[in-house]
Amino acid sequence: MAVIGNKKYSKQIEHHFSKYPDKRSAVMPLLYIAQEEYGWVNDDGIQEVAELCELDPTHVKSIAGFYTMYSEKSKGKYWLQVCTDLSCALRGADEFHKDLKAYLEVEEGGTTDDDLFTVEHVMCLAACDNAPMLQCNFHYMENLDMEKMKAWVEEKRAELQKELDA
Ligand code: FES
Repeated sequence: MAVIGNKKYSKQIEHHFSKYPDKRSAVMPLLYIAQEEYGWVNDDGIQEVAELCELDPTHVKSIAGFYTMYSEKSKGKYWLQVCTDLSCALRGADEFHKDLKAYLEVEEGGTTDDDLFTVEHVMCLAACDNAPMLQCNFHYMENLDMEKMKAWVEEKRAELQKELDA
């Protein structure tokens, strides 16, 4: 069943197609949409992007496999990529990363039992002056500390609980 080609993303997809001379050129932005929808680039996402871009699924899979911003493994709903590169490390990113993993009770690259959070470290994300920082599903969260993170994590957990109770 087509998911990313449905109404939810139709405006975004049309917008991306309008920027390029042919549909195949929109393959990377559409892979982002697939990743947003599924939490990772799975076989369904590959198939749908291939159909939308009029490409062979093998070709789409090779693109997804080449670039590190696409995940070919299942992730939590919130993929937290903490920058621990030098400038951020000088502002406490290593400790922040360690404390975040301890709070969520995950190892590097691990996902919490409720499938909400995956934590891993990454190299410079070009927001060095606002460290500690992380990228959550490609949105930046900056000037962080554990107090702010705990509040945010608990807010997301409460949202999940609300959804489950509904
Ligand atoms: S070193 Fe972390 S954003 Fe640049």
